[in-house]
Amino acid sequence: MVTLHINGKDVQVDVDPATPLLWALRDNLNMTGTKFGCGATLCGACTVHINGEPVRSCTTPISAAAGQKITTIEAIEDDKVGKAVQQAWIRHDVPQCGYCQSGQVMSATALLKARKNPTDADIDAAMSGNLCRCGTYQRIRAAIKDAAQSLA
Ligand code: FES
Ligand code: FES
Repeated sequence: MVTLHINGKDVQVDVDPATPLLWALRDNLNMTGTKFGCGATLCGACTVHINGEPVRSCTTPISAAAGQKITTIEAIEDDKVGKAVQQAWIRHDVPQCGYCQSGQVMSATALLKARKNPTDADIDAAMSGNLCRCGTYQRIRAAIKDAAQSLA
């Protein structure tokens, strides 16, 4: 049994400690907002925050996540910056199919927590690991800048 601190609550999962956090979230805790894309740290669909940092949950074993503060897309609207990012996403109608977007929102929120006014280069650096097959990159960039302005 492993205890995880997720979205402000302690939860227990009865799985092998080597299990990736993504599968504990999706299969054991029924938190399906975090998506599986590649399983190899290549696409960013599975991004969550651990202690405020964007982390790929597909390759993070729950043994490494235990005792840390985990935040998922299900609770990002409880965070001031996360809420601003979600609202900007809606204003800019960012998602197309939507599959990559929870990971995009998590990475964008982490970026805006680290940099209040990110430059294009900052956005490129923070978001380059989040792929979008639908090519919503221009709307993502605009929404990040809009969210930054709304928080100023
Ligand atoms: S599913 Fe984790 S990075 Fe692609
Ligand atoms: S919106 Fe479809 S993959 Fe990004």
